[in-house]
Amino acid sequence: MSAAPTAEQLLADLPPTAAVWCSGLRKRYRKRTAVDDVSFTVGRGEVLGLLGPNGAGKTTVIKMLLGLVRPDAGEVLLLGRPARDPHSRSKVGYLPELFRYQPWLTAAEVLDLHVRLAGATVPAAERRECLALVGLADRAGDRVGGFSKGMQQRLGLAVALVARPEFVVLDEPTSALDPIGRADVRDLMLSLRSRGVAVLLNSHLIGEVERVCDRVVILDKGRIAAAGTLAELLGQRELRLRLDKVDDAASARLAAAGEVTSDGDLFTVALPADPDADIVPDLVADLVELGVRVHAVEAGRISLEERLLDILRTGTEEHR
Ligand SMILES: Nc1ncnc2c1ncn2[C@@H]1O[C@H](COP(=O)(O)OP(=O)(O)OP(=O)(O)O)[C@@H](O)[C@H]1O
Ligand SMILES: [Mg+2]
Repeated sequence: MSAAPTAEQLLADLPPTAAVWCSGLRKRYRKRTAVDDVSFTVGRGEVLGLLGPNGAGKTTVIKMLLGLVRPDAGEVLLLGRPARDPHSRSKVGYLPELFRYQPWLTAAEVLDLHVRLAGATVPAAERRECLALVGLADRAGDRVGGFSKGMQQRLGLAVALVARPEFVVLDEPTSALDPIGRADVRDLMLSLRSRGVAVLLNSHLIGEVERVCDRVVILDKGRIAAAGTLAELLGQRELRLRLDKVDDAASARLAAAGEVTSDGDLFTVALPADPDADIVPDLVADLVELGVRVHAVEAGRISLEERLLDILRTGTEEHR
């Protein structure tokens, strides 16, 4: 018979706690409510996008998660520990929205300093690799006082990543980056996720969020206006067709599939939320039968940008 498992084995077998869990967060600055009843979770290995207009409360939420701003109400668990506990932050990497490093230090020295502050042990080769990852390999020995805006942001990313974090919080990581830098950061986030590292990404670049995030939380005036997976938020699919010889009968057949808008020979059909699996081939077969010439059929869905604007303009909460 095998020996009884040790307490350590039992703990190791427990499902890992969420990277972050928060509930009922509130913050007021004088009379202004910055954050009002915000709750969400970021699971291990999940990339969560935090979206919303300027002043929506995104940075304030992030600071409360990291114990940098004290909430008026609500609770936070960071990697399973209360956010007040400084140990909760040792495995968290953070790229702040606004920051300045000591201008007299070199890039390599800034990293060394942060490794020491995190109480981590990271071999020199790995630290160099981290600078290379953000494209600063050949600037390691240069003082950061002479760095361009984008180079400072790249260094900030290296600082957030160097101490082998389990959870990375990025507050607008690409606002100063060139297009290649942005693509690099996207790859970086995907590689973090594949290694089980959780990421909270706050960005105004919606395309970026759409490409890398598993789930999205949309804040508006301090409250959660919508939240869900991309599939949940962008549920409605549409079908774009390029057609010729569309008569009344064909128009009626298109309208039977969903709401139709047309622009010249381009027809867009908004499909129902839960369409029948054969809806597209059936439609195409019927159109051909009716004498329509079908030049192109393309499935698409509304973009996150359209959805976001829709949510913010109507201001209505719509959970699907
Ligand atoms: N230290 C502070 N003192 C007073 N008010 C503050 C402070 N920090 C934030 N606020 C207010 O809280 C609200 C939310 O600000 P926050 O920085 O969280 O917005 P944000 O969503 O990150 O916006 P942005 O997209 O512009 O970065 C704003 O009205 C802001 O003026
Ligand atoms: Mg902000």
